[in-house]
Amino acid sequence: MKKITIIGAGRVGETSAQILAEQELCGEVVLIDIREDAPQGVALDIYQTAPFFDFDTIVTGSNDPAAMQDSELVVITAGVARKPGMSRSDVLHTNITILDAILDDVMRYAPQCMLLLVSNPVDILTYHAWKRTGWDRSRILGQAGVLDSSRMAAFIAMETGFSAQDITTIVLGGHGDTMVPLPRFCTINGIPVSHFIDDESMQLIIDRTRSGGAEILALRKNSSAYDAPGASVAIMVDAICHNRRRILPTVAILDGEYGEVDLAMGVPCVLSRSGIEKIIEMPLNESEQQLFSDSSAAVRADIERL
Ligand code: LAC
Repeated sequence: MKKITIIGAGRVGETSAQILAEQELCGEVVLIDIREDAPQGVALDIYQTAPFFDFDTIVTGSNDPAAMQDSELVVITAGVARKPGMSRSDVLHTNITILDAILDDVMRYAPQCMLLLVSNPVDILTYHAWKRTGWDRSRILGQAGVLDSSRMAAFIAMETGFSAQDITTIVLGGHGDTMVPLPRFCTINGIPVSHFIDDESMQLIIDRTRSGGAEILALRKNSSAYDAPGASVAIMVDAICHNRRRILPTVAILDGEYGEVDLAMGVPCVLSRSGIEKIIEMPLNESEQQLFSDSSAAVRADIERL
């Protein structure tokens, strides 16, 4: 890609930009933020790592939405973050208002782009972006499951002592307390994780995954997580830019998949240069399907609050 814009030069936007630049996933990364001078400072700081990491990606910052002109991908990280004790849904109304203004700019300056939503509550914002733009669902996607799955993998690595690199996990559903970690599909280099972890310990890992964001917020106190979220954005962008056709859990608009319509939820998607190329329907058993349905009901309830 020639140009990727990241809207919101907060910690998640900055971390994402650093990795996109370092990995030369595009020719230019543009950071846009309404805070005066902030995106320019972030961009300059990142660009000054170019001599260390040997990249030629141009990194710029601007307060002017016109700077996103003709971007092929726009990543939205702007919005208020939750404070300790708040749920992701608590920031819904503020972030919808912020998103509306951003979407108007995106439709004006980058009408052909693909949109990657990161701000919370991400399922609701992804749904709202799809409704407001009227774009094809293949080019509106949200980041959640890649992060939740990486948290689950990290906890499994910590529990077993095996390399995180060999651990495959998948978390579907809404990016909230009802998310659906699927231990039956988790493996350590192809070996079912149940071979190494008993049910009781796995339940603790599932619970910790579900509250993975809140755990970090409670520890950091003045910031949500941003290292793993930024890396998760980069993984998705890499799959798209390199047309890898990776199967990654992605917030997608459902149109009959998993028995749901008119809803955005985390499901396994084939990510390629055309965005969400395909949604994979996993063979969930009855209890997994029930958890998925409970999660969709929770997301739907939030959408109805809009
Ligand atoms: C988290 C926030 C970013 O899960 O949703 O850390």
